[in-house]
Amino acid sequence: MTIKEYVKVRKEEIKDQVSKMARPPFLVIVQINEDAGSNAYVHGKLKDAEELGVKAELIKLPLDVSEAEALRTIERLNRDKSVDGFIVQMPLPQQIDENKIKLAINPNKDVDGFHPLSKLSPCTPKGIMNYLHHENIAILGKNAVVLGRSNIVGKPMAHLLLKESANVTVLHSKTTREDKEFYISHADIIVVAIGKKGFLDHSFTYKSDAVVIDVGITRDESGLHGDAVTDLPVKMQTPVPGGVGLLTRLALFENLLEIVGQ
Ligand code: GUN
Repeated sequence: MTIKEYVKVRKEEIKDQVSKMARPPFLVIVQINEDAGSNAYVHGKLKDAEELGVKAELIKLPLDVSEAEALRTIERLNRDKSVDGFIVQMPLPQQIDENKIKLAINPNKDVDGFHPLSKLSPCTPKGIMNYLHHENIAILGKNAVVLGRSNIVGKPMAHLLLKESANVTVLHSKTTREDKEFYISHADIIVVAIGKKGFLDHSFTYKSDAVVIDVGITRDESGLHGDAVTDLPVKMQTPVPGGVGLLTRLALFENLLEIVGQ
């Protein structure tokens, strides 16, 4: 099933679940940036919420807000009993310490699963794992390569793949080209999240039955582009747009329902 088809089916299930609840779950999104990617994601999340019958509110703080003021907003949301869960959209402006924000969020309301005590997983890796399971893609004992080591995607992705007994290799900006070629050529699953348009291209060799999960989004004058060119000689690759972004948005609502005990 394509990601679009899969997300459509799962959304119907979530909508049905929400409709049976005594009151709709309440999600708050805090945004402290003017990042184009974030704007698109936030817009998508609000649209999904409406479609799913979830109550959602966007709190936009000014770009120059102090760290103390941002923390006060988080404290208020932690205390507000009407708020089931909230997220603070990344990236943050430089005067705000990302780790302080993540640690300030009540782990029981942390829809992103960013807090170290959270029982939930960050949305992008979680959404990818759920889709791999749905598509019956073998993970145990398989060679998984994760390109990129960000806190939001690369690291938690590697962790989830390892938890399911893949042989996980994390490659990054300091990995030599020769080593990238070696690991990629042996990979059964490749998750690429480096934000470089068309980085995975025909200059690498791939296993013909490899699965490529493209997390990258680069916007230029010709539209949105992933980290992989579109016609890799592999068994399956996820499109951009209409790929991982949809899985991330879906996982956000799956996490929210877990928080409210569904
Ligand atoms: N920015 C990019 N992806 C994410 C995400 O999953 N959560 C948050 N909070 N910010 C992001």
